[in-house]
Amino acid sequence: MVSGKGRAERILVTGGAGFIGSHTVVELLRQGYKVWVMDNLQNSSVESLHRVCHLVGPRLSPNLQFHHGDLCNPADLDRLFNTSSSFDAVIHFAGLKGVGESVVNPLHYYHNNIVGTVNLYQAMAKFNCKKMVFSSSATVYGQPEEVPCVEESKLHAMNPYGRSKLFAEEMGRDIEKAGEEGEWRMIFLRYFNPVGAHESGKIGEDPTGIPNNLMPYIQQVAVGRLPHLNIYGHDYPTNDGTAIRDYIHVMDLAHGHIAALRKLFANDNIGCTAYNLGTGRGTSVLEMVAAFEKASGKKIPIKLCPRRPGDATAVYASTEKAEKELGWKAKYGIEEMCRDQWNWASNNPWGYQGNH
Ligand code: WQD
Repeated sequence: MVSGKGRAERILVTGGAGFIGSHTVVELLRQGYKVWVMDNLQNSSVESLHRVCHLVGPRLSPNLQFHHGDLCNPADLDRLFNTSSSFDAVIHFAGLKGVGESVVNPLHYYHNNIVGTVNLYQAMAKFNCKKMVFSSSATVYGQPEEVPCVEESKLHAMNPYGRSKLFAEEMGRDIEKAGEEGEWRMIFLRYFNPVGAHESGKIGEDPTGIPNNLMPYIQQVAVGRLPHLNIYGHDYPTNDGTAIRDYIHVMDLAHGHIAALRKLFANDNIGCTAYNLGTGRGTSVLEMVAAFEKASGKKIPIKLCPRRPGDATAVYASTEKAEKELGWKAKYGIEEMCRDQWNWASNNPWGYQGNH
């Protein structure tokens, strides 16, 4: 996109080598943005960015620069902001995202996610880059009192991961309030359950270790890396007894970030505002397993297990605000999510690390 300055807008993407980050970088480049990615590669692979360059082709790939660095090291941020002269906005993905892991190791999560975000806010203030799209999460709603979740729902994170996302939002609201009118503009995108992969099958989700989340776990069962899927809870008050979530295609999420960026650049006094990025539809675990079996032609062996502590019965989004104010609506359904997730998994059974 060309800014009011008559040049392509320059976007810093933290965590841009990760699952949602890399898919968003493809769309940013395709839309004509110049992109700098900072990633510590703790939970991602730079191979994802090599593939992004392959996907966008030789005309657009020169608009992507990668800087290996860590938000927890302010010197890395200073070096990046100094060398790249100026950024017009930041998309902040970088952060650890395992709910269970965060309960076991809260200090690691608070240091990485909160100190990293404080350092980023400080660098943005220092270098006068005060527009940000932040990768927030539906986990800020905790166990929602009612569904669908609206952005005005009570915020009540229930684990260190969710609290780190909530606090990053709260810090942003306080910083914006303390500034001049229109000085800071921030959009918090609350993702529901990101799944799927780019239609090419070249980039996708590649969690390190045993996956916490449902779809990467199913994916690894389907390619034979794991023996069966444990289904946590089959006595929920739902049609089939398994829990319901709002799964959203990662490319819908990527398009949501482009829509949010456009809103930031177009709207002088947006201040701080949050948008749900979901489909507004709930799918149960068993329904997801059946859809993946249909898309892959693979049988997914299951084991019915007790509920996972902290899991909610049903979480899905109200999407009205994003539709009305961002002009964004999810396009893909469960079939396309499973089709694309299987295409990535079957072509990359060991993710970016290649064959074992
Ligand atoms: C979905 C459903 C599980 C794994 C998480 C986090 C956070 C967020 C979205 C970004 C639940 C069941 C899961 C398994 C299972 N991401 N399940 N067997 O907990 O809704 O949310 O993802 O912010 O990472 O909040 O997602 O995929 O872990 O679980 O039965 O091996 O699948 O019990 O009902 P969740 P999930």
